[in-house]
Amino acid sequence: MHFGFIKDMTSKNSNIIVGLDIGSTKVCAVVGEVYSAKNNNPPHSPLTKGGMKGVEGFSGYDSNIHIVGAGSALSRGIKKGVVINIEQTVEAIREAIQQAEKTSGVDIKMVNIGITGRHIEYIASQGVIAVKEKEIGSREVELVLDAARAVAIPLDREILHVVPSEFIVNGQSGITDPRGMVGIRLEAKVQIITGAASSIQNLTKCCQKAGLEVVDVMFQPVATSDAVLTRDEKDLGVALIDIGGGTTDIALFQEGNIVYSAMLEVGGANFTNDVAIGLRLPSLEAEHIKRGHGCSMLALIDREEEIEIGYSDAKPGKKILRTHLVEILQPRAEELFSLIKDELTNKGYHKFMNAGVVLTGGPVLMKGMDVMAENILELPVRIGKSAGIAGDADIINNPAYASVLGLVLHEAGESLKDQELSSGNIFDGIRSKMSGWFKL
Ligand SMILES: Nc1ncnc2c1ncn2[C@@H]1O[C@H](COP(=O)(O)OP(=O)(O)OP(=O)(O)O)[C@@H](O)[C@H]1O
Ligand SMILES: [Mg+2]
Repeated sequence: MHFGFIKDMTSKNSNIIVGLDIGSTKVCAVVGEVYSAKNNNPPHSPLTKGGMKGVEGFSGYDSNIHIVGAGSALSRGIKKGVVINIEQTVEAIREAIQQAEKTSGVDIKMVNIGITGRHIEYIASQGVIAVKEKEIGSREVELVLDAARAVAIPLDREILHVVPSEFIVNGQSGITDPRGMVGIRLEAKVQIITGAASSIQNLTKCCQKAGLEVVDVMFQPVATSDAVLTRDEKDLGVALIDIGGGTTDIALFQEGNIVYSAMLEVGGANFTNDVAIGLRLPSLEAEHIKRGHGCSMLALIDREEEIEIGYSDAKPGKKILRTHLVEILQPRAEELFSLIKDELTNKGYHKFMNAGVVLTGGPVLMKGMDVMAENILELPVRIGKSAGIAGDADIINNPAYASVLGLVLHEAGESLKDQELSSGNIFDGIRSKMSGWFKL
């Protein structure tokens, strides 16, 4: 779903794209400066060192995107992807944006946001057009996707993306990209990803109350996939699993596109709760201990190792064996990956995940999460780091920032396609709504 173009907010050679991830643990914003291929001046940002060349991203284009600032704030107004407290959410957005403005020197007016949640639904649809020029080009593809999206959508839902499953040219089915083919009849079978209008509007309202205009609302896994998945992985079949604070999002990609998504109500907060109860600590301290000494597998730690707890009190800290902590964390991790495996196998997707699993989200930073995932899921697993983007390594390589970086990358890809389409004078002034499903 898109509300307008990105705007040039700095120099003539660059555009600014701001991603704003409104999560349940943190709200974070990153400021991306996108340099056009023609005018690839090195950026002079405090976060980028020297004149960097464009980086070949997972989306395959020479992106020239540099993260020039970022901000993060604690989130309390979001639960399971949905706003539960407007004021608290607005406050966190303001704080994250202010920090991002300070670090980037950009006056942020517009943001791109992501959305997830149980309210996401897929509607199957199809469209057909007659091809006048005989040869199918981007324009025909756009028209047939427009025809497919012109289906009655319930008033309480809004379209986020239109994802083609296949194209049919003159009755020939199974075509993934019809451009360049000759035919007189072009059909498209699509999945329309929709979200509850109320959830989308509440999120955009929070941004507006924080003084921001929302450029685009994307289904979060679709955006994240642009940051962390390779084109090959998406073609072969891959599961993108984002473990967040209170929930875990599972998104499956096949033949280049998202085919299924689901949400589990387990996340990093469950690990913290277990530690708080198991070690009788306040939540804040349990969180601290988990982040500092957590590990999901007993087999990966030294059985004799001691850690200190209780140092947030005025009293001196107390030493415990690290195994006590890991004995609490391991069963939760086992449960989480078993639930994920059930989701993949019950829906019959497990055997199609030829490229395995990519993990993102804060809890993935805990030692052993990838090893345990590999053991339980019986698939190759890697931790998703963003590619195609330059800047502070602490942000780029952090799996908890993959989603917000995906918002910048996805929007940059969309804008690039728009420019390509409009420079051919085909779509002057028309924003493509096909959401980047092609390998341009
Ligand atoms: N080093 C770490 N070790 C273990 N857990 C961590 C670490 N760093 C962050 N986490 C956990 O990651 C979780 C937050 O992850 P993330 O920042 O991806 O969530 P979010 O995007 O705000 O939430 P959601 O996606 O559910 O809306 C928290 O539960 C936090 O405890
Ligand atoms: Mg998240």
